[in-house]
Amino acid sequence: MRVLNFGSLNIDYTYSLDHIVAPGETITSQHLEVFPGGKGLNQSVALARAGVPVCHAGQVGEDGGMLLQVCQESGVDTSRIRTVETRTGNAIIQVSAKGQNSIVLYPGANREQTQEYIDQVLEEFGPGDLVLLQNEINLVDYIIQRASQRGMTIALNPSPFDERMLACDLGLVDLFLLNEVEGAQITGHQNPEEILEEMKTRFPKAQVVLTLGKAGVCYQRGEIRLRHGIYQVPVVDTTAAGDTFTGFFLGSLLRGQPVEEALRLASVASSLAVSRKGASSSIPTWEEVQRADLTCQS
Ligand code: RIB
Repeated sequence: MRVLNFGSLNIDYTYSLDHIVAPGETITSQHLEVFPGGKGLNQSVALARAGVPVCHAGQVGEDGGMLLQVCQESGVDTSRIRTVETRTGNAIIQVSAKGQNSIVLYPGANREQTQEYIDQVLEEFGPGDLVLLQNEINLVDYIIQRASQRGMTIALNPSPFDERMLACDLGLVDLFLLNEVEGAQITGHQNPEEILEEMKTRFPKAQVVLTLGKAGVCYQRGEIRLRHGIYQVPVVDTTAAGDTFTGFFLGSLLRGQPVEEALRLASVASSLAVSRKGASSSIPTWEEVQRADLTCQS
């Protein structure tokens, strides 16, 4: 199975602050760092560091060279990434002393994909291949439709959730990777139990991975339900924790691990990511995850 990740590539401007700025407040950050990021890029890097070959598709501007370089250094195939005239997408990220973040996104080139470009990329993929998607690019609905017509398996992380997600034929998705907020936005339910029940009713064939913050993660396939707890680590920066989870969960499954072990490895990987600064730069390697000696809080 080949993996195609159609996703965003962002330059992250990360400001360290005592607390996240409140409406009307002005605060000075003593620390600005520039990191490679974007949910798409982070998930490709996580897959590659989990040891799974991944081909990334998406768009950058002329200023996106460092993003291509980071992907390549991590082993991501960047040959389908297109450089366009519009500037690269960016994110203004505030990180508080407690490691919490707040993000403003400017989509730039990420949202200027055309149907022709998408068709051209998908032409090379077909039955047995998997496409991974998030919601920081345009035409996600079109990619889902065309990938399904080509017989590809579709994995969707509907993040950041907005009304464009509701325009997608979610019935074509084989694997959802989502958090409680996104689960609530799709199903209209707040309670995790009800979210999972509604997902099962509406998308009976899909696997669902629902992350629950401090309560860990829940996996559902039909009547099968599995849970995994979180690990205790010092929280430095939560940026890309979810992306790391997604990449390592998928990567572990593709490496032939059972779902229980994929949940464990993904949880370890995302815990390591929150204990480090930055987006893709915080993502551990497969070996680091294997070596990690963390205590699970179930
Ligand atoms: O999920 C983390 C990512 O969200 C950051 O890297 C930032 O670019 C935003 O897209």
